[in-house]
Amino acid sequence: MTEARTRADGGMETSYGFRQVADGEKQDLVNDVFHKVAKRYDVMNDVMSAGMHRVWKDAMVSALNPRKDAGYRTLDVAGGTGDVAFRIVEASGRLAHVTVLDINGSMLGVGSERAVKQHLSDNLTFVEANAESLPFDDNSFDAYTVAFGIRNVPHIDVALKEAYRVLKRGGRLLVLEFSEVEMPLLERFYEQWSFKAIPRFGKMITGEAEPYQYLVESIRKFPNQENFAAMIRTAGFSRVSFTNYTGGIAALHSGWKL
Ligand SMILES: C[S@@+](CC[C@H](N)C(=O)[O-])C[C@H]1O[C@@H](n2cnc3c(N)ncnc32)[C@H](O)[C@@H]1O
Repeated sequence: MTEARTRADGGMETSYGFRQVADGEKQDLVNDVFHKVAKRYDVMNDVMSAGMHRVWKDAMVSALNPRKDAGYRTLDVAGGTGDVAFRIVEASGRLAHVTVLDINGSMLGVGSERAVKQHLSDNLTFVEANAESLPFDDNSFDAYTVAFGIRNVPHIDVALKEAYRVLKRGGRLLVLEFSEVEMPLLERFYEQWSFKAIPRFGKMITGEAEPYQYLVESIRKFPNQENFAAMIRTAGFSRVSFTNYTGGIAALHSGWKL
């Protein structure tokens, strides 16, 4: 689990991959990871997931089924280079507007360059901010999406409360995240792939193995499907459900603000 806990000296600590770090330290360490990988992030996503992240993100956007309407507003949190946001805009017939929010300017920089190249700057706004303190009014968005981002946020409960606050009544939360593999054979292969292959590919492609070691460790520390669904309910969401993708390697969680 990822919750903060009290140290012997009374300070709080939280998990950073398999390590426990001081509560205030995790975000800086995470930011360092994504500053280092930003330029190679998209290519590494293909390598790490053998291209599957594209299939899972497409499935997420199909589940969202964005309205083909210029008034439809989505907030894509921890949106990084905008991979999900671009898909939402395309699925809406280039009508919807997506705000891509991320704490890391290097990741957003890659996304905003891509938006210019694809002539989608009018549909996308890039905002550098923390998921735990969203710079938006209550009841502002029709949908809130976050893909492979929430496990990096130090206080997930705070981020989920913020999601609830900024969604309109009737608005939808969708969270795509790595999850608990439910097939023993697949689990064994996935374990080898994650801990042996991914850090090696990371080193070959980006020159750094450590960020990828963190990423695979952080997946193991993230709550499983049932526990994460419970956290979403605690934040106030209704009709909470999840769908496993590829035997649970990833899962899409859904909730509504009713
Ligand atoms: C694995 S990337 C996911 C990017 C994108 N959603 C995707 O699926 O390709 C995780 C992102 O979470 C961002 N992040 C980490 N902590 C955050 C926070 N507290 N608030 C907002 N974004 C955060 C990182 O900067 C990084 O861009």
